[in-house]
Amino acid sequence: MAPLLSMNRISKRRPDKAREWLFDDITAAIDKGERVALLGASGTGKSTLLRIAALLEPIDDGELHLEGIAQISFKPEHWRKKISYVAQAPVMLAGTVEQNLRTASELHGTLFDEPLARRCMAEAELGHLDWKKPAAELSGGEKQRTALVRSLLLRPAMLLLDETTSSLDPTSKEAVEHMLNRWAEREGTAMAWITHDMEQSRSVSDQIWFMGDGKLLERGDTKAFFQGPSTEQARRFIQKPIEREAGGNE
Ligand SMILES: Nc1ncnc2c1ncn2[C@@H]1O[C@H](COP(=O)(O)OP(=O)(O)O)[C@@H](O)[C@H]1O
Ligand SMILES: [Mg+2]
Repeated sequence: MAPLLSMNRISKRRPDKAREWLFDDITAAIDKGERVALLGASGTGKSTLLRIAALLEPIDDGELHLEGIAQISFKPEHWRKKISYVAQAPVMLAGTVEQNLRTASELHGTLFDEPLARRCMAEAELGHLDWKKPAAELSGGEKQRTALVRSLLLRPAMLLLDETTSSLDPTSKEAVEHMLNRWAEREGTAMAWITHDMEQSRSVSDQIWFMGDGKLLERGDTKAFFQGPSTEQARRFIQKPIEREAGGNE
């Protein structure tokens, strides 16, 4: 069976310097229900790669397939219903929390599953949130989790999580990890997490993708990666992900 998502020789020029490649020749695939942690220093193009996978950013070369079907055959909104990207600093739509939660179903012409929305919000430790509150007034962490629930309600085949827990305190972070692990088990949703939290990357992934030097330098089993990465870049990164992060240009 074809993988859920396959990326074949994807290349992307730097948005700021079009003559240089941000990355090139990235080939990777993810199966239904598989969980990936995407690691790498800041500025290596992790967010760009996930945005490409959600058709939010064009590619300069290469091909994408969803369940074996070429991207060109999809309407972007159909693709994005299957592969949903949760931004690091999500854009809330004008209006209330409830209106934001209802957006996805309205956009895609599906029924709003309010009990599911309530359960997800509670599991994300947002059970207390007043749905009549303007979404613009939420904190960064509340916006991230509301955007996450908004994406979950689409029941996508794959979720792309861009540092989704980066503004959360440890308790809320764990709640979100548990919620997503349970969700993946129940729904068979594939997930790709960008994270700088090594503990998290171990607990939420089956495989690691490691980006550096404009390449996907490593792609393999999570345990094997942490026991002994194949590249010097990954070895250094595992030891000091935060310091390398601080040297980045986010
Ligand atoms: N819209 C943009 N305009 C200019 N430069 C951008 C834009 N988006 C990303 N970049 C640059 O592309 C590089 C990769 O960005 P990004 O994919 O966000 O990396 P990462 O998520 O790994 O930190 C960075 O150098 C960033 O500054
Ligand atoms: Mg990023």
